[in-house]
Amino acid sequence: MNAKTTEGPQADASVKAGREPGEDTRELDARLEEIIHEYSDRAGALIPVLQVAQSLYGYLPQRVLKRIALGLGKSYSQVAGVVGFYSYFTTVPRGRHLIRVCLGTACYVRGGRLVLQALRDELGVDVGGTTPDGLFSLAVGRCFGACGLAPTIMIDDQVYQRVKAARVRDILDIYRDSARKAG
Ligand code: FES
Repeated sequence: MNAKTTEGPQADASVKAGREPGEDTRELDARLEEIIHEYSDRAGALIPVLQVAQSLYGYLPQRVLKRIALGLGKSYSQVAGVVGFYSYFTTVPRGRHLIRVCLGTACYVRGGRLVLQALRDELGVDVGGTTPDGLFSLAVGRCFGACGLAPTIMIDDQVYQRVKAARVRDILDIYRDSARKAG
């Protein structure tokens, strides 16, 4: 996992899109309790518990951080400090679709940086951000295993290969159109 300057791709790959606001989280809360219980006696439990919590909720709401702090016998500021340090963790809900731009070596040298800039411009958000309509979140990764077809991006589980900056809008429009049709 990397600090705030970069993002960890493997970690990112496990992140689910954000849950709907107001969604019933009782089942998730119960699962979180189990995880906290399971890890409470282990050294170095904080990061694994945070990872599981983020994969459950899609992000780390403050109430979840407080629960984890209490459950692991840590202060809230300790927990918040770790969350703030690692770019993998997010305290804001993810958009419906998570876009990850590969900045691994092959993709970087073949234009991944330009693709990322095009996405920033098109979405109006930076890495780690979510569009105001909640449709997209933007992240970066390090190699999706398709280096021969670089540069690549992933949107949710779909890999797009040989992406050109000029094609970014067309790709996003697929998701915008389907969101419009879904009402
Ligand atoms: S470096 Fe981008 S897919 Fe491998």
